[in-house]
Amino acid sequence: TFVVTEQCIRCKFTDCVEVCPVDCFHEGPNFLVIDPEVCIDCALCVPECPVEAIFDESDLPPQFVEYTALNAELAQQWPVIDSAQTPLADAEEWAEKSDKRKFLII
Ligand code: SF4
Ligand code: F3S
Repeated sequence: TFVVTEQCIRCKFTDCVEVCPVDCFHEGPNFLVIDPEVCIDCALCVPECPVEAIFDESDLPPQFVEYTALNAELAQQWPVIDSAQTPLADAEEWAEKSDKRKFLII
């Protein structure tokens, strides 16, 4: 399955949503997640993300391993998002930053 990781936090560019054939993205206040039960591993979303937040679970950088469980858990709580939206107001500024895990709003 594919997993959304830290770079999405405080950005939410949502380009990923447009290409997903099975609508498995779910939206929270400042982050998106993928429902692992629905993702068909097509990989179409990966190159769409301008901040490279999406990884194949098997290629996750070690510091992002916790995001596998986080995506599965939050997908159960957050509503489906099936079309692109305007990114968050400061998305461009936050796109450059790292260590954003602490800003995740659940
Ligand atoms: Fe959707 Fe394919 Fe990305 Fe899975 S890999 S979230 S099915 S676009
Ligand atoms: Fe997030 Fe990238 Fe999608 S910033 S909303 S994973 S395009």
